[in-house]
Amino acid sequence: MDTKYFKIDQNHMDRDSIEQAAEMIRRGGLVAIPTETVYGLGANALDENAVLRIFQAKGRPRDNPLIVHIAKTEELENYCVDIPKEAYDLAGAFWPGPLTMVLKARPNIPAATTAGLDTVAVRCPENPVARAIIEAAGVPVAAPSANLSGKPSPTRAEHVLNDLNGRIDAVVDGGPCDVGVESSIVDLTGPEPRLLRPGGLPAEKLEEVLGKKLAVDPAVYGEVGPDETVRAPGMKHKHYAPQAQVVFVQGSAQSAARYIQKRANEKAAVLCPAEEQKFFPFVRVAVYGSMDRPETLAQGLFSGLRELDTRDTAVIYARCPDSAGILSAVVNRLLKAAGFNSVDSEMEA
Ligand code: TXA
Ligand code: MG
Repeated sequence: MDTKYFKIDQNHMDRDSIEQAAEMIRRGGLVAIPTETVYGLGANALDENAVLRIFQAKGRPRDNPLIVHIAKTEELENYCVDIPKEAYDLAGAFWPGPLTMVLKARPNIPAATTAGLDTVAVRCPENPVARAIIEAAGVPVAAPSANLSGKPSPTRAEHVLNDLNGRIDAVVDGGPCDVGVESSIVDLTGPEPRLLRPGGLPAEKLEEVLGKKLAVDPAVYGEVGPDETVRAPGMKHKHYAPQAQVVFVQGSAQSAARYIQKRANEKAAVLCPAEEQKFFPFVRVAVYGSMDRPETLAQGLFSGLRELDTRDTAVIYARCPDSAGILSAVVNRLLKAAGFNSVDSEMEA
């Protein structure tokens, strides 16, 4: 299949390209669209066949449900029932934006979209190109990240093409994503709101609006066995992982440098913030952002992983010395890329 390429500038949106992309989605096609978090692989969420094609194109396990993207908050009621007050509070505060809410699904959502669950994940994205396409399509858009399943998420159109060229109908290039990590996912179907995935919206902000601490799903911090049930099925699959082995290295920059220098060879690389580059003169380094502006670390994370992975790299030692705010999502993605292989360099010589 030929993958059509559209370039759409979010400040001067070309109506014709928006219409063409929307028409492809309406007709059951697969179109990768830019969102503020990562690129999504969009299809009509109400069209079972279109949704099944998403799973095929990505090589995604069928038991991993998709997020349904809507253009306006009010559309929530078309796809969800028993919506609690918290959902309206959070939507009011953070939509459009990098927040996904899991709610009770209406029966009009096909089982392929929800992977057979009675709940559905819904998000109203902020990116103007995404919103214009969803609105013009006139249907809710199911969109997982537009990468091959298990690869780091795409934050640029070229990442999408590297993974999916020839496997999807079109890609809309809207430039690099602003946030760079996926949305935060909150489950509102249980007795207490529960964070299923840390993401672009820091948990602290969610807690301010909810007026209480969020329960955090155990899958966020640990490995989940293949037979265990988790609330966000995607959390149990291998994720964000480059070909190379990733090791998450904790401790001060000095002790991390000592730990890595002992083990590094020409096939090793380090992914770190700009402030730490000077500690690793003995090894190939990719800087993915700066601690001064933590949002740049989120923006650069997946690009950095992809960049190091295209070279002859066997091991990537990854650093993120803080985990407040948005960095909790960065640490979570690095731990997942590492298969939760994390070492404390202060403890291990
Ligand atoms: O920022 C994002 O959320 C991006 C952009 C494209 O919107 N999308 C994204 O989709 O990250 P994906 O498919 O890569 O991740 C969706 C996550 C998976 O972990 C999945 O298991 C979980 O959401 N999920 C979807 N529906 C769910 C449901 N009904 N209950 C619990 N978890 C659900
Ligand atoms: Mg994904």
